[in-house]
Amino acid sequence: MNKQIVDVNCTEWIASPAQDKWVTDLEAGKVLHFTSLEFPVSAFESSFFTPDIRNPKSRNISLDDAGNLKGATANQQVQTGLRAMMTRFRAQSQMLVDSHFPCYKDHLRLGPTSFRPNRIETRNQSWRADDRRLHVDAFPTRPTYGERILRVFINVNPNNVPRVWRIGEPFEAVVDRFLDNTAPYSAWRAKTLNLFGITKSLRSEYDHLMLQLHDAMKQDLNYQRNCPQLTMPFPPGSVWVCFSDQASHAAMSGQYMMEQTFHLPVSNQYDTNSSPLAILKRHIGRELI
Ligand SMILES: [Fe+2]
Repeated sequence: MNKQIVDVNCTEWIASPAQDKWVTDLEAGKVLHFTSLEFPVSAFESSFFTPDIRNPKSRNISLDDAGNLKGATANQQVQTGLRAMMTRFRAQSQMLVDSHFPCYKDHLRLGPTSFRPNRIETRNQSWRADDRRLHVDAFPTRPTYGERILRVFINVNPNNVPRVWRIGEPFEAVVDRFLDNTAPYSAWRAKTLNLFGITKSLRSEYDHLMLQLHDAMKQDLNYQRNCPQLTMPFPPGSVWVCFSDQASHAAMSGQYMMEQTFHLPVSNQYDTNSSPLAILKRHIGRELI
């Protein structure tokens, strides 16, 4: 297996100059690991590193694109501080993406920022929602029509606990393995799901196939155990970036992580032929959106 994780030894969030290799690796579905970036937190911010900061009714604490904080406890001072910390990470992530992948600049759509204060390994979930199983990101309610999901992660654990991921085989190999067993797309079913508000827009054949791959990977325990993969313990301070709709990944353990999502139109990729949409289209032999 090609090495699916690549170290980037920049010491600044702003790259100067950008290297073509970073885009090539990212668009090949690899995980870029920034080993030497810093994200200092203040003494007050250190007090946020407790699971009690999350509203128990929410899975994560999130900051939406309009700057609204959701999922945190009610204390106003803490909410203000959390918003400031997450806004700072959002700005750093934006600088990192804009300067390392300048061809995406001006085309990215900002998604949510999240802070995840809970231990992954204590989460009890259905197989479909269990992100400890290798998968590519695909969401049942939110069709993307091929728009890319670019994510920046940082392990902010103050107790030296790594965030452990497994990283699986390249997307093409996932498609080769599972595509023949996917259920056929039903336009009628997609219309019904949309009519009843289960999906936010009409699910395209592309979105159907991505969900099928997501589920097929997670459901196959033999695949989970035996497919080509590597285990990567991201130490505290690590930042890593990938297209999570392409890089096969599983979050196994760890606590206290922040993540920033960006969306990128396929047409603004450096190499549009490397996208999951293009790969699936080549396999199926017709338009999927
Ligand atoms: Fe994921």
